[in-house]
Amino acid sequence: MSEICKNWTQWLKQNRFAGQTPEMIEQTTKWLEAVRDVILVFAEILPHETVIDIGCGTGLLAFKALEMQNCKGKIIFSDKFQDCLNDCKRILDESGVVEGYEMLLSPCEHIALSESSVHKALMRSVLVHIVNKQLAINEVYRILKPGGKFCAFEPIIRSNTRYWEILDPLHIEKYDDFKRVENEIMENPLDSLCNFDEKTLKTNLEIAGFGFPEVKLQEVKSSYIVQGGMVNEWFNNPPSPGQPSTKERFMKYFDEQTVNKYMQDVQNYLTGREISLKTNAVFINAKK
Ligand SMILES: C[S@@+](CC[C@H](N)C(=O)[O-])C[C@H]1O[C@@H](n2cnc3c(N)ncnc32)[C@H](O)[C@@H]1O
Repeated sequence: MSEICKNWTQWLKQNRFAGQTPEMIEQTTKWLEAVRDVILVFAEILPHETVIDIGCGTGLLAFKALEMQNCKGKIIFSDKFQDCLNDCKRILDESGVVEGYEMLLSPCEHIALSESSVHKALMRSVLVHIVNKQLAINEVYRILKPGGKFCAFEPIIRSNTRYWEILDPLHIEKYDDFKRVENEIMENPLDSLCNFDEKTLKTNLEIAGFGFPEVKLQEVKSSYIVQGGMVNEWFNNPPSPGQPSTKERFMKYFDEQTVNKYMQDVQNYLTGREISLKTNAVFINAKK
């Protein structure tokens, strides 16, 4: 397992930007704010409401919701990991904010709140790290008040562009073997990152009890020129703390030397080339 990322706070502040140029980091930051704003528009938060940000991380959604409520309601910063809550609390303390929020250390599969206790539940990129998504969505439904809303965003990694799609078999040794293994990795039902798509999420929401949940697929196309060092970052950076990197995932099928040769081939082929990528995600807007 990867040791280069010690906790979620570090991942959110550093690792998620791995392999990006300063311009790309700025674009990603703007995109995160735009995603946040769409979730909050869907949520229609009112000043007196109780709102939970499940898997709040460094507080992307919760801080903005707190600002929108002007500290007059209750925003619950909730996460399974204490480092995230500590980081958010430090910012609140440093900003002199003393009311309008609560901190809740709790896994999203068993949220430590009673049923029908919140008006709005917000989430961004959390289900993608949960193997049993049904359990987490059932919990969201349970804690929402009747008429309450669940508004979220999740990446659909399974249908993103895969490496083999942007490579030329003539330049990559064992291209077919790596293509087969990459497809197998991306369709592993036990891997939280890719064991779902927009259809399975909709089914999860319906099973939990949400009537006519909206699950809107968004496909984003981007293109850029691959720069030196980027390929190395893509392969070595963990997708979340403690989870195997892409290199480590390939090493379950090939020895290290073979994976290193593949990475070298990928690097030689892609560096300096313009690549076009497709990334998919969904916005969820569901009412109890
Ligand atoms: C990709 S981050 C997203 C953070 C934040 N929502 C944002 O939009 O920046 C995933 C978050 O999910 C949290 N998380 C992971 N597993 C969890 C679980 N089982 N229950 C609750 N939170 C979890 C992590 O601690 C992390 O804060």
